[in-house]
Amino acid sequence: MIEAVNVWFSYGDRDVLKGVNFRAKKGEVTVLMGRNGAGKTTLLLHLNGLLKPKKGELIVDGKRIRYTKSDLKWLRRKVAFVFQNPDDQIIAPSVYQEVAFGPVNLGMENVEEVVKNSLKAVGLEGYENRLCSTLSGGEKKRLAIASALATNPDYIVMDEPTAGVDAKGFNSAVEITEKLKEEKGIIVSTHDLDFARAVGDKFVFIDGGKIVYEGDSIDYELARKCGIRTFFSGELVVISHDGDIPEGDFDFIAAMGVKAKKRAEREGINLDIASASLERSILRALEGHRVLLICSAEMVEVVKREVSKFPVNVKFSLESYGEKAVEVRSSSKNLF
Ligand SMILES: Nc1ncnc2c1ncn2[C@@H]1O[C@H](COP(=O)(O)OP(=O)(O)OP(=O)(O)O)[C@@H](O)[C@H]1O
Ligand SMILES: [Mg+2]
Repeated sequence: MIEAVNVWFSYGDRDVLKGVNFRAKKGEVTVLMGRNGAGKTTLLLHLNGLLKPKKGELIVDGKRIRYTKSDLKWLRRKVAFVFQNPDDQIIAPSVYQEVAFGPVNLGMENVEEVVKNSLKAVGLEGYENRLCSTLSGGEKKRLAIASALATNPDYIVMDEPTAGVDAKGFNSAVEITEKLKEEKGIIVSTHDLDFARAVGDKFVFIDGGKIVYEGDSIDYELARKCGIRTFFSGELVVISHDGDIPEGDFDFIAAMGVKAKKRAEREGINLDIASASLERSILRALEGHRVLLICSAEMVEVVKREVSKFPVNVKFSLESYGEKAVEVRSSSKNLF
């Protein structure tokens, strides 16, 4: 297990990590998510000793890292780092030299075989003689993973492995990650919700240099609060039965609860969704539609709880007129 315990770090006098506690286990994919500048890369760079905490400590498989030369050598062998931008990592001219660099440095035997297997693991078999500079962005990303694999680390840390890759690259990143975790611990940072959902066993949110969530599933409500991109293009607007009906076009309008249905009736609104209102509203929003859900006030908490389980872009507009205003409004309607 990799453990960061109460880790503090600052660039200059600006604190970027503020007492971070982070754990990642072997056989699991731990996904680190958070808004731009939250501290993901900074935290990841600590996990193989590329950065040293100002305060706190790093414990890897029970060993407390002392940042001596020998500890760092041990740590870098144990934990490999794959940079977000492969150009920050790739140093050799040819693919073979690039993957062989680590194993040769460590005096490993069978370098040729190691290179072959590492390239095979990322689907780059036969690329040995290619110049790194001639690889596509996606291929470079895979090459960077192959280099990390070549020294047979126990953990692999990958900073945004799917940034800038196409559908095929995405699938291959998922496949590689799934395969690697059988033997290793994988830690990834990502803004890619699809990737997180496809590979993640543990999810950790970081915000403002602090860990704000750790769990086996994604809490979408909290994720949204942390500026994590969680939604597709649709939108679910939730209003209370006694609230203002917002302007604008909605593809679907639903009402949940007796009071909400009555309100819709009073307003002369035709409901597009007649039953299973909450589930269908969420589904329509996930499909990319703009959905208005009028909700009886006492059901708001249920709605909040349910939508927190889905990657739907949701807006709550819950101010109410207050009882009196509602009465006046409804009685004036009743005059007709
Ligand atoms: N070398 C550096 N010198 C000074 N400030 C830095 C340095 N690297 C990062 N920072 C700052 O530290 C904060 C955290 O940066 P970090 O790269 O860890 O964020 P991140 O969560 O990885 O963001 P992103 O999603 O954009 O990759 C940011 O405000 C950033 O500007
Ligand atoms: Mg980053």
